[in-house]
Amino acid sequence: MTTTLIRDDLELEIDALRKERNAVILAHFYQRPELQDLADHVGDSLQLSRQAAKTTADVIVFAGVKFMAETAKILNPGRTVVLPDLEAGCSLVDGCPPEQFRAWRAQWPDALVVTYINSSIELKAMSDYTCTSSNARQVIEAIPRDRPVIFAPDKNLGAYLAKVTGRELILWPGSCMVHEVFSDKQVVLLKDEHPDAPVLAHPECEERVLRHADYIGSTAGILEFARKSEKRKFLVGTEANIIHAMKKAAPDKEFIPIPTLTGCACNECPHMKRNTVVKLRDCLRDLRPEITVPEDLRRAALRPIEAMFRVCDGAVPTRGD
Ligand code: 13P
Ligand code: SF4
Repeated sequence: MTTTLIRDDLELEIDALRKERNAVILAHFYQRPELQDLADHVGDSLQLSRQAAKTTADVIVFAGVKFMAETAKILNPGRTVVLPDLEAGCSLVDGCPPEQFRAWRAQWPDALVVTYINSSIELKAMSDYTCTSSNARQVIEAIPRDRPVIFAPDKNLGAYLAKVTGRELILWPGSCMVHEVFSDKQVVLLKDEHPDAPVLAHPECEERVLRHADYIGSTAGILEFARKSEKRKFLVGTEANIIHAMKKAAPDKEFIPIPTLTGCACNECPHMKRNTVVKLRDCLRDLRPEITVPEDLRRAALRPIEAMFRVCDGAVPTRGD
């Protein structure tokens, strides 16, 4: 039997299970292309949080990482949320242990805490606002300028926000293991080779890369910029699997991934890669691994997520939208 046949069978099985379970499959732009193709919605963290808030499905299958599935569960206590691989974590979550954060944060009792959605549920529960890369600036700008702000856990996104908002932010020193390894030297060489190609970079990148960028934005922002641009070729400074979605959105354009410092394949997120089509089928069939969260923690973490939606959408998305 060929691999294609096995894949076709699996896809048929996933489709049948999706109907039987009344499930919705959400996939992040960093997911393997075959998982993006099977999803009902593909998007960035904000778009997927909105989808999770609005869904009427009984089961949410999150083809992404644990903090994303946890956010879906926080928004949907009554629905079953499953993640194909429970070990799909995130270096930003791992780099900000909640108890260490609590002790560190106590130095600035008057500060408001803005937490990147790429964080643990415990960290969210200690926050005033969450944000994603596409609304972080809006959230920071909604806070009165005389109020000190702690931003955690991504120091690169935080430094970028401090620069664009002209505010001093107190930064937790975390970073994304994928975005911190892009090579600025390679950006310079590629720009020389392709002078017409704009550099598109995610704000999780280091400043040494961001300083060469023509556009800085979330994954959805990067995709939209490329789709609307008159340019034909782009240098892409974010997780490489987004190129699959970019090619679908703009099939006649060329996307060149920016290489990493060592030339390794570390521009692909190892956590996202843990999810596979077989694991997707298994979790739809078995409704496991399931995301469960203690109710008091869920309520505490919901508050800053709702505060984020109020700032960026004017209201929390509802199922009637
Ligand atoms: P966005 O989805 O906000 O672009 O963030 C990218 C990311 O790192 C998700 O893990
Ligand atoms: Fe976390 Fe970076 Fe992977 Fe996103 S790409 S899930 S921030 S490690």
